Amino acid sequence: MLIQLIYASRSSRVLGPADVKDILGASQRNNTRAGITGALCLNNGIFLQLLEGDRAAVNALYHRLLKDGRHRDTAVLDMSEIPCRRFTGWSMGLIASLESNRQLFLKYSGTADFDPYSMSAVTLRSFFDEILQNVRWLE
Ligand SMILES: Cc1cc2nc3c(=O)[nH]c(=O)nc-3n(C[C@H](O)[C@H](O)[C@H](O)COP(=O)(O)O)c2cc1C
Repeated sequence: MLIQLIYASRSSRVLGPADVKDILGASQRNNTRAGITGALCLNNGIFLQLLEGDRAAVNALYHRLLKDGRHRDTAVLDMSEIPCRRFTGWSMGLIASLESNRQLFLKYSGTADFDPYSMSAVTLRSFFDEILQNVRWLE
């Protein structure tokens, strides 16, 4: 059964490019093997990640993520059954907090700072829909 899981977490310390590279490297390696696709945003020290794949595989990954000391305050924001995958080309795409992405983050945020913890599941789904439609955000 295919599901998507969206969660947020806070980075436990300031992460440099090497940390992000390490997270993405492990994600792309492991997710390809486990049949997991999705996207990871990092903005304002907050991670927002969408994972899609087989329910058991996504659950297993989420449990592993909870043990990762690089982030804390992990909270599931949405978990739903999906008819099909949408991030088929991405074992894990990164949406960085570049200036060019600022408007995208603001568009879906009720506050000036991006705060996914306060966003509804519907808003979060729209946010990721827009990411898919506008790959140019991913410069
Ligand atoms: C915000 C965040 C997102 C992550 N996303 C993934 C992911 O999608 N897939 C994955 O395998 N590991 C992910 N990781 C890393 C895992 O927690 C863990 O370090 C990694 O899976 C270990 O892989 P390895 O045993 O191959 O080194 C993420 C870590 C963080 C902090």
